[in-house]
Amino acid sequence: METSAGDALRRHIPPIDLLQAIKVGGRLPAHVAVIMDGNGRWARGRGLPRFRGHTAGIKSVRDIIEGAIEAGIDVLTLFTFSQENWRRPAAEVEALMKLLRRFAKEERDELKRQGVAVHVLGDLDRLAPAPRRAVEEIERHTAGGRTLRLNLMISYGGRAEITRAARRLAERVERGDLNAGEIDEDTFAAELFTADLPDPDLLIRTSGEQRISNFLLWQLAYTELFVTPVLWPDFRREHLFEAIYDYQKRERRFGRVTAG
Ligand code: IPE
Ligand code: IPE
Ligand code: MG
Repeated sequence: METSAGDALRRHIPPIDLLQAIKVGGRLPAHVAVIMDGNGRWARGRGLPRFRGHTAGIKSVRDIIEGAIEAGIDVLTLFTFSQENWRRPAAEVEALMKLLRRFAKEERDELKRQGVAVHVLGDLDRLAPAPRRAVEEIERHTAGGRTLRLNLMISYGGRAEITRAARRLAERVERGDLNAGEIDEDTFAAELFTADLPDPDLLIRTSGEQRISNFLLWQLAYTELFVTPVLWPDFRREHLFEAIYDYQKRERRFGRVTAG
């Protein structure tokens, strides 16, 4: 059953027109981040084991990469596996790592052809050798792609990222490369995984959960949030366009007052 406000919107505007609408609808978000959530619930709703939801979610990943390219987004950042997700049952972690390897192997040529530059960001030291090799290989293979930068956040936690940045700055101070008084927001941000990237303009979370779950804590300071009840395996590019359409109607004030 279709019930969300977005579904009502799509009934009103067919998907192809939705893409046209965002093309002429104002500023596009340069950087879109997504918390891909709801795979387990999607599977449970069908009487299937949880991992089937993760497998189905791969189709959604493919589709929104294409949607992001169609829409003309520069950076797409996907929360793929959190630091906290290591605490899930071993069998589920194993299934997710297998899927990651499969994705890296099956998609690398197509992503390269599309000009997608994949970057894998997070505490990769915790990955087993095989998935680690697979993600490093897809990074190498797609390096230099100019159409879209795709960040896969793996073994990632926002607090850990901030702590790591603080440690790296402290080490520079210890080495005498930097004075403590020179540390400001820019020097700090330069030590994050996202050093060379603009902050996300838009964060989408699927499955209706209204929380950040330790994602990009620093970078989301002024990001527009869009929560949709759609479960990740059901998410398609039309849902991405709908989120962008909604984003374009918002007024971002960054703490200031409205002009005029
Ligand atoms: C998101 O789906 C995928 C990962 C976190 C790896 P979940 O597995 O969290 O699905 P739900 O939230 O239990 O439905
Ligand atoms: C966030 O989803 C992590 C990813 C999407 C990879 P979770 O399902 O792990 O988050 P919580 O537990 O609902 O906060
Ligand atoms: Mg979840």
